[in-house]
Amino acid sequence: MKDLVVCIAFSLFLTFTGSEEVRYETEEEQKPCSYFYADRYAKPEGGLVNCSWYSNQACCKRTEVTSVFSNIEPLHSASRSCRNQLNYLMCFFCSPDQHLWFIKQKLRVCAEYCDSLYEDCLKAGVGKRTFGEEYDNGTMFCEAQNFEVIDGASCFEYDPDVFGTAALTTVDFLLFSVVLPFLISLCVL
Ligand SMILES: *[C@@H]1O[C@H](CO)[C@@H](O)[C@H](O)[C@H]1NC(C)=O
Ligand SMILES: *[C@@H]1O[C@H](CO)[C@@H](O)[C@H](O)[C@H]1NC(C)=O
Repeated sequence: MKDLVVCIAFSLFLTFTGSEEVRYETEEEQKPCSYFYADRYAKPEGGLVNCSWYSNQACCKRTEVTSVFSNIEPLHSASRSCRNQLNYLMCFFCSPDQHLWFIKQKLRVCAEYCDSLYEDCLKAGVGKRTFGEEYDNGTMFCEAQNFEVIDGASCFEYDPDVFGTAALTTVDFLLFSVVLPFLISLCVL
């Protein structure tokens, strides 16, 4: 019994130090915001309505998000997936990782993201013409937005998880429902 208590205490210690490390890393790292000419660093920012998933570490301010989203033209016939991908794309300037793919004042988007957005938005449109009529493919769509299309690493990727269950919750869930019972079961054996 005493062994079990010690073992559980040790498991808790491991779990705790694991999460400490993560927090330490994010606090230490100074992420330059290249969209804002690197005279800004990512920091927590509340009230980012349409880009809320960046609240823990954001390069944008609440007022900038509101301003961008209040100036968009209405989109018609767009599926949920099309809307989410466009919404995510419009929030790029909030990302704390922008120094990796916003270079020389140009957004480097992954070809895969452009393609999937184009596929899901074919029938959607702003005004009379649909995306499918306006552009031949995803590359053409992204280039028309003055983005650079990149096939491979160091490009802005879509993360659909931000619109479903939050990624952080998944990690916590895994930690407490899988990792801890696993450690404890080791103790009991
Ligand atoms: C932005 O957020 C507002 C408020 O939640 C919402 O009404 C609007 O539809 C959102 N716009 C987009 C493009 O997602
Ligand atoms: C996309 O369309 C353009 C214009 O028709 C074409 O030149 C280009 O090769 C196409 N790219 C891909 C990846 O299909």
